[in-house]
Amino acid sequence: MSNSILIVCYSNTGTSRRVADLLASQFKWPRGEVRESRSRAGAAGMLRCVADSLFKRHPAISYVGPDPRSFGTVVLIAPIWAAELAGPMRSFVRDHAPSLQRVAVVSVMGGNGATNAFAEVDRILGRPPILSTSFTAREVDDGSYSSSLQGFGNAVRDNGNKEDAVRPADLSPSAV
Ligand SMILES: Cc1cc2nc3c(=O)[nH]c(=O)nc-3n(C[C@H](O)[C@H](O)[C@H](O)COP(=O)(O)O)c2cc1C
Repeated sequence: MSNSILIVCYSNTGTSRRVADLLASQFKWPRGEVRESRSRAGAAGMLRCVADSLFKRHPAISYVGPDPRSFGTVVLIAPIWAAELAGPMRSFVRDHAPSLQRVAVVSVMGGNGATNAFAEVDRILGRPPILSTSFTAREVDDGSYSSSLQGFGNAVRDNGNKEDAVRPADLSPSAV
């Protein structure tokens, strides 16, 4: 399994995108983005965010970026809506589940709901994220999350390196 790492971000109002940008610049990892053609502006857009969470809907998305299949680890970064994973990231995880190898999750939120998002990724993939963390929008705004994000990135990188140190071929009888 390759130990290369891809960041995939969905952001409606820009906070999660800033987290993705900082992680990408700290580690020189490539980034992809989940996009929607339908706007979430205004009260109607906000209501649709909430409804997507309440009914666990899968809104239509497009993905722009490197092919996740080529990466040993994908770091998902997305907001929390109504205490759940933002709908467009739910769609991405479902659509790409068969080709995702290791997955780590970063939730960006006002203050609660991240554990539901981690549990949902676990449910969709049938295995928990290798690592997960969350930041509040306030921490992102004031920049105080920067060293925690770096620590998270180090852990993601080290996890991939550790897994790659024990390859299936090393364990097979033909390798001895
Ligand atoms: C419709 C809606 C529902 C939200 N629900 C929650 C919530 O349940 N818990 C929480 O901590 N933050 C909640 N938030 C706050 C967002 O998670 C937070 O503002 C996040 O930084 C937005 O990310 P973005 O700028 O990348 O879109 C909600 C935001 C919106 C628009």
